[in-house]
Amino acid sequence: PKLVLAYSGGLDTTTAIKWLTVEQGYEVIALNINVGKSREQPVVESRGLAAGAVKVRVIDAREDFLRYFAFPALAAGAVYQDQYPLATALARPLMAKLLVDVAHEEGAVAVAHGCTGKGNDQVRFDVGIQTLDPNLKIVAPTRENAMPREYQIEYLKRHGVDIPWGDKGPFSIDENLWGRSAEAGVLEDPWAEPPREAYEWTRDPEEAPATPAYVEIEFESGVPVRLDGQELGPVELVERLNDLGGLHGVGRIDHIEDRLVGIKSREIYEAPAAVILHTAHAALEAMTLSKQQLRLKKYIATEYAELIYNGLWFSAHHQDLAAYVASTQRHVTGTIRVKLQRGRAVVVGRKAPRSLYDRGLATYDRGDTYDQSAAVGFITIWGLQTRTQVRTQLLADLP
Ligand code: ARG
Ligand code: SIN
Repeated sequence: PKLVLAYSGGLDTTTAIKWLTVEQGYEVIALNINVGKSREQPVVESRGLAAGAVKVRVIDAREDFLRYFAFPALAAGAVYQDQYPLATALARPLMAKLLVDVAHEEGAVAVAHGCTGKGNDQVRFDVGIQTLDPNLKIVAPTRENAMPREYQIEYLKRHGVDIPWGDKGPFSIDENLWGRSAEAGVLEDPWAEPPREAYEWTRDPEEAPATPAYVEIEFESGVPVRLDGQELGPVELVERLNDLGGLHGVGRIDHIEDRLVGIKSREIYEAPAAVILHTAHAALEAMTLSKQQLRLKKYIATEYAELIYNGLWFSAHHQDLAAYVASTQRHVTGTIRVKLQRGRAVVVGRKAPRSLYDRGLATYDRGDTYDQSAAVGFITIWGLQTRTQVRTQLLADLP
């Protein structure tokens, strides 16, 4: 029988190809999904075939990832526990969808992924796959049959796959255009400051240029479309912000996070573009949404982040929240100027054609259009209940 494996090209999933073929009797189709910075494609292909895959398929999903997963999360303001912009979590439902699509195309009966049994990713893959096609069997070799690194290398050699794997990196890394996640190794000590090597995309803010960089980000209905006046596709826009932000030390996050499976874990994230875009988008909403919209949307953002984190992307709840978010974004159009300097991204300018900010109302200078005498009547009505309550209840209770 045929099986489609989500294949990164790393040791775990390369071992999985061999194990699924030899031990489980599958014809393995290795599916490499490119959602951002990742291993070079030719290496992935030759490794997959060397390990015994009948076919290696490579899908460039970078634009879809940003357009249909990261940007909707941006519009929603979805940041898990106010810290994590959800890079890894957002890529999983897309991967689940592509696994299922390719399984159908290839006539496969099963799909597989390389997640452990301790994390969130297994939940996101499994729930995603189960909702899209409950008839597909799901195999998770690492969860079912964890092999230590040395044993994996040995196992592959024994089966004639001799690839130089190099040293084990100090951390467990997952990355895509929306951010880089690092965990394990010395990061497991929550008291220990992350070593230099924990960061790859961002400069140490102390070593970043003293001279700030400015970038103007233009949004149309909540979607970023231009940088400094230049129209860019999602991939190029996000890559540029990752580079520029990284150069200025922006986007480092050190988070003690609550996994869905009950574990607290220490995660180091780098997400320059996501941090800059969330900051800018929130500033534009402050100009274009009413106080009531902002208040409810903050609550929706938390709910949205939870559902992404917890693997419920393909749910009716998500459809409902997305409809609300889309409605709020109708006038979230405009330009935000952000200053990047030594680890900080600060909004220093904003403009929007449908702005609710009215200088004529706000000004203390000449040109005031606000009727100050009307305030007195408003205050009388506004304070009415409180005055009544003080008179009839609070004062009445005094001895
Ligand atoms: N804890 C994060 C999440 O659940 C990131 C996990 C990333 N995986 C990794 N192997 N570093 O989304
Ligand atoms: C894994 O267990 O495969 C990665 C960690 C996570 O899912 O949180």
